[in-house]
Amino acid sequence: MSAGRDAGTGTHPAAGRNQAAGCAAAAVLEEWAPAAGLSARIAPFPRTGTLAERLAANPFLMAPMAGVSDAAYRLLARAGGAALAYTEMVSVAGLHYGGEKTWELACPRDPEPDLAVQLFGSKPEQFREAAAAVQERLGEKLVLIDVNMACPVPKVTRKGEGSALLDEPELAARIVRACLAEADVPVTCKIRKARTSAGPEVAPEFARAMADAGASAIAVHGRTASQLYRGEADWGTVERVAAAVDVPVIASGDVRDASAAVRIRRETGACAVMVARGTYGNPWVFSNARRLLAGEPEVVPTAEQRLSALACHVLLLEATGAHLARARSAAGWYLKGMPDASTWRDRAMRCRTVDDYLALASALRAQLAEEGAARAAEGERRA
Ligand SMILES: Cc1cc2nc3c(=O)[nH]c(=O)nc-3n(C[C@H](O)[C@H](O)[C@H](O)COP(=O)(O)O)c2cc1C
Repeated sequence: MSAGRDAGTGTHPAAGRNQAAGCAAAAVLEEWAPAAGLSARIAPFPRTGTLAERLAANPFLMAPMAGVSDAAYRLLARAGGAALAYTEMVSVAGLHYGGEKTWELACPRDPEPDLAVQLFGSKPEQFREAAAAVQERLGEKLVLIDVNMACPVPKVTRKGEGSALLDEPELAARIVRACLAEADVPVTCKIRKARTSAGPEVAPEFARAMADAGASAIAVHGRTASQLYRGEADWGTVERVAAAVDVPVIASGDVRDASAAVRIRRETGACAVMVARGTYGNPWVFSNARRLLAGEPEVVPTAEQRLSALACHVLLLEATGAHLARARSAAGWYLKGMPDASTWRDRAMRCRTVDDYLALASALRAQLAEEGAARAAEGERRA
């Protein structure tokens, strides 16, 4: 086996360790995705047609999430059926100063077929430069460039970046035009309902200004920036933006599961949907949303499949060179709802290596099998 670990049992022969260290993400998917009920092969986002046509036919997207949507996370989402995945927001100033660490955020990792890159900043000239550089480095793998006009974090807004741009429609329009001057791909914007909950909703008018500046699509998160990520997302905002612009709208906010993904699209008239926190421990959300859209029932992953997805996630982190600290939150998500979840989560907190996580998945899988066998025996005894 290429990864040197057994996808069926979660065992990790010592002989496979060195091999595993260098094992590519493609080999990890090949080996573990089927056991997790995920696809080992990732379908590229269609290259032909308008963005509106491509989104309408492939509407469920993995949202940009800083500190979460790294290459491993995106690969898992794509293996789970996401039509396209976004990078986390990437600083145009960081790219300008040439940081390789910043570049790592913007580049796809094999076997990602393509990528949506989200940029943030406040200086049109830096956006122009970043768009040209991203276009050159990613080439055919770049599907679109999205401009972040939604981030509510004070560290960002203080510099006039992220959701602060909602107060500066003219500057925001110049940023869109600066990207368009260099990009061969569509340029889109991600916005929020408004900056503060105290003020009026600005999203529909602001979206119209961005579309007039040349944005090919508008992603709308129906919370205000002052809400951060709390409270309810207003799907009415998404609906009003969809009614205000001729370009496709991508809905975001409170898309907790597959049925919400289908509902937000239907109720708002959005063309496509971004799934954000609804993907935590649930890469199957995308294929299930597609099933629901086609009138088919959802397929709920088994506990064994969830454990294989956890193993796959951890191995993908290793294969893509990510910090293993990310595996902790992933473990928490996948273990949610398992028998004795809190005990297993405590154990996950003590995991230090990839093999620790694989051993945990293997031990829990064995416990579940034992409990299943005991239940079957009890059933037979009673019958
Ligand atoms: C941890 C985290 C990081 C995020 N980072 C970004 C980001 O880099 N760029 C962005 O446009 N939105 C970001 N978002 C917002 C999400 O893309 C999404 O719009 C928001 O979470 C609403 O969707 P939800 O309620 O379904 O989670 C982030 C959200 C979370 C929870």
